[in-house]
Amino acid sequence: MPQHYLGIDIGTTAVKALVVDESGSVVGDAESPQELSVPQPGWAEQNPSDWWQGTIDAVRSACAQAGVSDVAAIGLSGQMHSSVLLDEADNVLRPAILWNDVRTTAQCRYITDRVGDAGLRRMVGNPALEGFTSPKLLWVRDEEPDVFDEIRTLLLAKDYVRLLMTGEKAMEPSDAAGTLLFDVVNGRWSEEMVGALELDASILPPVVGSASISGRLTSDAAEMLGLRVGTPVVGGGADNAAASVGSSVVSEGTMQTSIGTSGAVVAPIGQPRVDPGMRIHSFNHAVPEMWYLMGVVLSAGAALGWFRRVLLGTAGVGLSYEELIAEADAVPVGAEGLTFLPYLTGERTPHADSNARGVFVGLHSGHQRGHMVRAVLEGVTFALRDSLELMRGLGVDATESVAVGGGARSAIWRQMQADVLGVPVVTVGPSGGAPYGAAILAAVGAGDFATVIETCQAWIRPIDQISPRLGVANAYGEVYERYRRLYPRLKDHFAQFAG
Ligand code: XUL
Repeated sequence: MPQHYLGIDIGTTAVKALVVDESGSVVGDAESPQELSVPQPGWAEQNPSDWWQGTIDAVRSACAQAGVSDVAAIGLSGQMHSSVLLDEADNVLRPAILWNDVRTTAQCRYITDRVGDAGLRRMVGNPALEGFTSPKLLWVRDEEPDVFDEIRTLLLAKDYVRLLMTGEKAMEPSDAAGTLLFDVVNGRWSEEMVGALELDASILPPVVGSASISGRLTSDAAEMLGLRVGTPVVGGGADNAAASVGSSVVSEGTMQTSIGTSGAVVAPIGQPRVDPGMRIHSFNHAVPEMWYLMGVVLSAGAALGWFRRVLLGTAGVGLSYEELIAEADAVPVGAEGLTFLPYLTGERTPHADSNARGVFVGLHSGHQRGHMVRAVLEGVTFALRDSLELMRGLGVDATESVAVGGGARSAIWRQMQADVLGVPVVTVGPSGGAPYGAAILAAVGAGDFATVIETCQAWIRPIDQISPRLGVANAYGEVYERYRRLYPRLKDHFAQFAG
């Protein structure tokens, strides 16, 4: 009987499931859309029970497509940082507060005051940013003390799904790294940080390896998912780490740019390394003994989605992203003086500013829709370049970038990435996404491959490569400078008027 592996990603817009066979081919692929709740501007929540229902739906349809009801192992991946708070009986206490929720500025200040930048660098290797998990816990402590008193377990999105699958509470290093409670360098919970924040260490689950078996499907879960009781579930990976496994970005000198809801530049490193200015995240990879540097653009694909939904309204219904991007392609580099800052939900890298807001600057009456779309695409791509420039400043660079996420589907946008970032942009198959990386971790956990890197080498192939065009890259260089100058000019304005 051929072996199959299941990779699942608990994404913000959808739960995705892939069934992969032993040669690495995708034989089942399904997704289940997820609602996002925005109770107040700057907030973002989801119900963990929706993730579970989405998992059941996506897994059932991917397995039906593959004609498979037995997989050798399951790998989980998911949105990072999003807090699942459970009581004594493992009931969910409140909706999860997501990675792109920026309500926790006061708690970030509290953490930084408490341990100082030097303490943050030493204990957890990262600054206190609104999106990370421990500020969310403190927000609940400050604003919902009754809920806080009931918390007995803290999990992240994929780990809650694991609990319902296996009955086991566990996290793995690549997701634990984003809680701001994890000692990234030594790969264990930071007792020092937990103590400094006066948190109860018993709410933190054990940390298992990304490709290690963390539990097995219970009979209830197996019945709901239509799979075999006892199927092993491996630790898995944070979505950015899992996506880089899925695109074979698992060694130094490689890099991944992803454009999904958020955007990220991920560069693996073989030794733990903390940016002295902590402007770039420093997290554990899903590959053992690897780390990665990452810059995060909070609204990447989300900015284009927002443009289509809000600015185009009914005119945008039925208009595909391909059509919109083709309109942008007909407009020259720089969108004839129009610049867009994509900070619709504040920004993480490089500004770490939850007050930052989206802006179009330079509109004139000659601009058409294509100019605005082009400015959005350029703004998001420049935001990725901001992250890459910070990495280059630390001496970390790559000879090419693997593009993943919805934004990678467009050859026009990939060409823009190549021209703006100044590196060839490649796509890889069969999938290059987080659920595929989760399936790789499952294959290793099942014992069918010795290492993650070996599996990547066996399964992943380049599909195409787009090179930077020198003249165009130079033209973008000037437009990028125009873009970069805007934020410092608007920073005080954002701080004064953010609503
Ligand atoms: C990473 C981050 C986002 C989410 C998206 O730090 O917040 O990329 O992981 O799911």
